[in-house]
Amino acid sequence: MASAPKPALLQRILMRKSVEQVQRESETSQLKRTLGPWNLVFLGIGCIIGAGIFVRTGNAAALHAGPAVLISFLIAGIVCALAGLCYAELSSTLPVSGSAYTYSYTTIGEFAAWIMGGLLLLEYGLAASVVAVGWSGYMVSLLADLSIVIPPELTGPYGHALIRDGKPVLDAMGNPVTTLFNLPAFLVCFALAALLVIGVSESAKVNNIIVAIKTSVIIAFIVIVGWYVIQHFDTLKANWDPFIPEATGEKGEFGWGGILRAASIVFFAYIGFEAVSTAGQEAKNPKRDMPIGIIGSLLVCTILYILVSIVLTLMVNYKMLNVPDPVAVAVDALGPEWSWFAKTIKIGAIIGLTSVILVLMYGQTRIFYTMARDGLLPRVFSTVHPKFKTPWINTILVGLITASAAAFFDINTLGDMTSVGTLAAFGIVCLSVIWLRTTHPEIPRGFRVPLYPVLPAVGIIACFALIFTVETRVLIFFGWYAIAAIVLYFVYGMRNSQLQKGEAQLD
Ligand code: ALA
Repeated sequence: MASAPKPALLQRILMRKSVEQVQRESETSQLKRTLGPWNLVFLGIGCIIGAGIFVRTGNAAALHAGPAVLISFLIAGIVCALAGLCYAELSSTLPVSGSAYTYSYTTIGEFAAWIMGGLLLLEYGLAASVVAVGWSGYMVSLLADLSIVIPPELTGPYGHALIRDGKPVLDAMGNPVTTLFNLPAFLVCFALAALLVIGVSESAKVNNIIVAIKTSVIIAFIVIVGWYVIQHFDTLKANWDPFIPEATGEKGEFGWGGILRAASIVFFAYIGFEAVSTAGQEAKNPKRDMPIGIIGSLLVCTILYILVSIVLTLMVNYKMLNVPDPVAVAVDALGPEWSWFAKTIKIGAIIGLTSVILVLMYGQTRIFYTMARDGLLPRVFSTVHPKFKTPWINTILVGLITASAAAFFDINTLGDMTSVGTLAAFGIVCLSVIWLRTTHPEIPRGFRVPLYPVLPAVGIIACFALIFTVETRVLIFFGWYAIAAIVLYFVYGMRNSQLQKGEAQLD
């Protein structure tokens, strides 16, 4: 019996879920529309403020940009705003959950969706590991304040020299102490995965409380330390001299090259605003409120970040900031009478970081879940626990991946991989807007990116330009990761896809 001819390879990899189907899924959604514009802004801030500002700013300033790290925040904020506008257009056109993965599936096609799935594993899964390492830094520091000491060997990635106050720690024989693995980071990932298995995800109310705590801590930092800085400006202004330290000649070390390098580091601090777009089905008025939620949360965070970096780099010299808890170091510089405030900052940071890890891990499990229902991942990823009604095997696996990465790798490598993956994902989102406007100009759009096609095109160029500022070793690793993802698509994804088989999503 002659079988029907198979479509050509190019046609297969460009196979799309139809816009109508995705919109229908949205109309039949059971979720209640309860989120207004402020809830959406708070949702965004809940995912955005985390290890980026509390931890990575210190490294970016100390090793790459000096006080000019605030220019890096501005550059990264502008790149995110360009991608944010594209997210806003897509989410007001295709108000479905599933985020960038679904957008790519509906616009560019299955292959792009698969690659997006791989990039989102870096943006959510690996980002959770970065935040867990940041969490560990603040936790170890807080416990030390309370005279509880965790063996230093168990507080850092495998094989790294342990540094305290800028100097290597030596053992009794005078040899440098090296760390084995990061126990607190490992434990927090595992504990949160366990909570997700039993079905604890954040409600909007809890999210609002946590957002209030972490923004209060940041605003208190800006006001209290900022006030001190104003009082002592004559002495402290020396910390801004030079404002842009001279380039050392090494790639990305100070000068304008360093500012751009730092922009790719602090870019991490903005990741999370796109979580707003996943709430499309729960927004009261998605067409108006999604852009407000995305751009509003980005704007609030950009202002806070720039103020924090001004205060931080004036209060202490940027060279002292390459520590796990830079914000607390600046508070310590106020004097011993402020030690209560340093502890408060650490507690606020720990609470805030915990919620970011939870949200990122939750996002990762739901992306795996959707991909498994589309047949692109093994079915076990969509198996739901009979009692807890959560994708439990998938969640345990995400817990294992994030906990292992957090335990054994250093925060800078993990953070750079996350930034590169996310920048590539944002580039594809900008491309999706151009693709959808070209292929489906007729669909009604609640929000349209202004100055089309200039802004999405500049967004693509800016994302790719920032990718090339990271260390070469990270770029090589990312290249191998991308090649592995492409091979896996042809070996597994394409052969098992429900869409390719002409079948609907699995239940
Ligand atoms: N933007 C988030 C953070 O900084 C991921 O932790």
